[in-house]
Amino acid sequence: MRGSIAESALCREKNKMRYPQSFIDTLKSRFSVSQVVGTRVALKRHGREFMGLCPFHKEKSPSFTVNDEKGFYHCFGCGAHGDAIGFIKEIEGLNYKEAIERLAAEAGMALPQPTQEEQIKERVRSSTQEVCELACRWFESQLMGGAGMAVRDYVASRGITPASIATFRIGFAPDDREALAKALIAQGVSQQQMIDAGLLIAADGRSAYSRFRGRLMFPIRDKSSKVIAFGGRILPGISAQADAAKYLNSPETELFHKGHQLYNYDLARKAAYDAQGVIVCEGYMDVIALHQAGIQNAVAPLGTAVTEHQLQLLWQLADVPVMCLDGDAAGARAMRRAGELALPLLQPAKSLKFVQLPSGEDPDSMMRSGKKDRMLALCDQAPALADMLWQQVISGVATTPEAKAGQEKYLYQLADQIKEPTVRSHYRSFFKQKLWESQMNAPRPKIGDRKGFQATKVQVATSIPALSGTTEMAVKRCLALALLYPQLLQSAQAQEQLACLPVIERGANALREAMLDYAQTHDVLTRDGLREALAEQADAMAALTRDPSIVIAADMPHVRVERFWQIAVNAFHLGQMEQERAQIEQLMATQNNDENNQRQLALHHQLEAMKKERDRLTLLEQMEEV
Ligand code: UTP
Ligand code: MN
Repeated sequence: MRGSIAESALCREKNKMRYPQSFIDTLKSRFSVSQVVGTRVALKRHGREFMGLCPFHKEKSPSFTVNDEKGFYHCFGCGAHGDAIGFIKEIEGLNYKEAIERLAAEAGMALPQPTQEEQIKERVRSSTQEVCELACRWFESQLMGGAGMAVRDYVASRGITPASIATFRIGFAPDDREALAKALIAQGVSQQQMIDAGLLIAADGRSAYSRFRGRLMFPIRDKSSKVIAFGGRILPGISAQADAAKYLNSPETELFHKGHQLYNYDLARKAAYDAQGVIVCEGYMDVIALHQAGIQNAVAPLGTAVTEHQLQLLWQLADVPVMCLDGDAAGARAMRRAGELALPLLQPAKSLKFVQLPSGEDPDSMMRSGKKDRMLALCDQAPALADMLWQQVISGVATTPEAKAGQEKYLYQLADQIKEPTVRSHYRSFFKQKLWESQMNAPRPKIGDRKGFQATKVQVATSIPALSGTTEMAVKRCLALALLYPQLLQSAQAQEQLACLPVIERGANALREAMLDYAQTHDVLTRDGLREALAEQADAMAALTRDPSIVIAADMPHVRVERFWQIAVNAFHLGQMEQERAQIEQLMATQNNDENNQRQLALHHQLEAMKKERDRLTLLEQMEEV
């Protein structure tokens, strides 16, 4: 057996050499699927699709369709499904690589020659795959052996059935630095191959040791069900390092790129097609629990936030994947991130839906407590991306016209991130409609409510209310931001927001008036231009820029500048409302009547919503910083 892996890898390396994706893409773009299929099957146009008799099973009436828009064929009779290359592969009985070569010949395209570097990489890839397969078998045998007894108990206690152990090839890595290496070396695997596969950690000077020790092992399979990496879960009461990370994944290898893979993609693919949907959950256990409960169209990212690449994979499985992450703050954040990531990539018909699981639950816990129907219902009624964005933006309270304008602007900014023009315009109309509806339904302001502002003319506040520390800070921040980034004032809304801020002291007020003046009289607003216009306010400017409590980077991209602005404006309103709340609480000590009670309650809700908005913005900002 010794050396067998290296040899077999070598002799197959040339055969298995991958063609670069760019070449495959170009090749695919030369033909539509119907052109390729049409040379072998008689097709008739049927609306947006083509239909014909399925070449893969015997039939009298056509149930075989080709959709050029989606780029694949599908048979409703036998389930045959694939793209142009897949079709050639199936019908000619070729492998993937040969199918590509056949198509390239038909297109008259020369095949790219692999470089030496690519050949080496391919050698490592194919060896890594074989090493992973051997390791997987060894982990499986460890779980089934005598040493695995306590682990089997744990697995059973988590409700995982023997059938799932077999389907997902769950295994056990004993708490031993050398056992795996010994077992695999006996099968002809070299230490370097195990290091390349991410199974051993190379320690300088000392011998390499096992990465996974005392863990429950979940092999990660690629699209064709080959094991390419592992996730290992710590075992309570069994793992020696109880304080180590709960899950440990293989490192990036020549074969495994976390952000490019989804757990269970291979098994979910057919189920997703049948169910016309795919569920994205957080972890291995969720996928397995769902699978056991008969929901087989579930996948999970691998310990990272969903990536752009994973979104594209999901959209290959279904038009509108359902994001069903844990019912906790981290899950909610991950969903928001996925939403933001998806926006620029949206295409007609392609979107996302978002399930908010009950707090503290994940799909695994739902299945275990018999809430499958509840979960399916939640998936069914899950809000679409546009609804989720709308909800999130308006959850930040907007009592003032400025704040409302801020929300409106933000909504349109979100829509503008969509690159595809049709989808973008539909998002804009959607938000417009929603804004209109919410305005129609809004209660009329009562006398004594916060005063509105005149939209036509910017009025500068002139009273000097007592400001709390945070409010004053927020005002200063706005001024400092506008000073550094006068482009902010290009928008009438920002001008109004600046104008409606209270006065801090005379110098600062003059500074603000001069800023507004400059903004209203110049078409192009620049830092230097503004500084020149503010020559007379040099002292106030210096006081502001010298203030050690306000430090603003001078080279932020526009999105961040705008977010900072929103955060500052929001903080100002928040500060003001806190003050209001304190006042009313004081008042209620002597006048505890209905009206005051209601005011207090309303204020409370507004404050909570506003804080949420603050947290959202701050979070976005923090994400930028890491
Ligand atoms: P969770 O902490 O939600 O675990 O992590 P879980 O799936 O509910 O697992 P159980 O029920 O406690 O066994 C979700 C996913 O995040 C990744 C893993 O991929 C995990 O499946 N993760 C989590 C890590 O990569 N590292 C960690 O330390 C924790
Ligand atoms: Mn869990």
